[in-house]
Amino acid sequence: MVDSGAMAIVGSVFNVVAFAGSLRRASYNRALVRAATELAPSALHIMVFELDDIPLYSEDIEAAGAPPSVIQLRDAIRKADGLLIATPEYNYGVPGVLKNAIDWLSRPPRDSALNGKVAAVMGASRYSRNGAQPIAIAAGIRFYRHVRTATAGGSCRASAREV
Ligand SMILES: Cc1cc2nc3c(=O)[nH]c(=O)nc-3n(C[C@H](O)[C@H](O)[C@H](O)COP(=O)(O)O)c2cc1C
Repeated sequence: MVDSGAMAIVGSVFNVVAFAGSLRRASYNRALVRAATELAPSALHIMVFELDDIPLYSEDIEAAGAPPSVIQLRDAIRKADGLLIATPEYNYGVPGVLKNAIDWLSRPPRDSALNGKVAAVMGASRYSRNGAQPIAIAAGIRFYRHVRTATAGGSCRASAREV
C-alpha cells in the first residue's frame, strides 16, 4: 500500500483508492497510478493498492471467509469517496486481474464496497495503440452496476521508454 502523502485529511479532501489492472513489474499502468499520487492536488488523497495478493475469486474461498488482502481493499474502498483505476487493454477487454478484483469487490451484492462510489478509469500502453475498450466497458456498464458514476478518463498513449 502506498499513500500519496502525509497530508492531513480535512473535510474538503477527496479520498481515492487507486490500483492498476496489471501485475507486470514495470507496468505502465502501475507507473500511471504512481504518477497520479505524485501529481495529485492537495485536495485529492490517493491510496494505492497492489492487486498481487488478491486471489482468483471463488465462491468456496468466499464462503470460508474473504482473504485478508480482499478485506483490506474492501475496507479502504468503503472509507474512500471513489476509485482511480489505471488499466491496459487485454484482448479488447478488461484484464483478468482487474475483473477479478471487481468480482471480489462486488460481493456481497447488497453490501458491496463499490456501492455509491465514483470511479475514474485511465489507461497506458507500451504500444502506440492503447485500446479505450476497458475504459468504455468500465464506464458503459457502470462497474457492473455498483459504482454510481463512472467517468471515463482519457486513454493516454505512453511515449516514454520502458524502465
Ligand atoms: C494478454 C495480452 C493481451 C493484450 N491485448 C491488447 C489489446 O487488446 N489491445 C491493446 O491495445 N493492447 C493489448 N495488449 C498490450 C498491452 O496493453 C500492453 O502490453 C500494456 O503496456 C500492458 O500494460 P502494462 O504496461 O501496465 O503492463 C495486450 C497485452 C497482453 C499481455
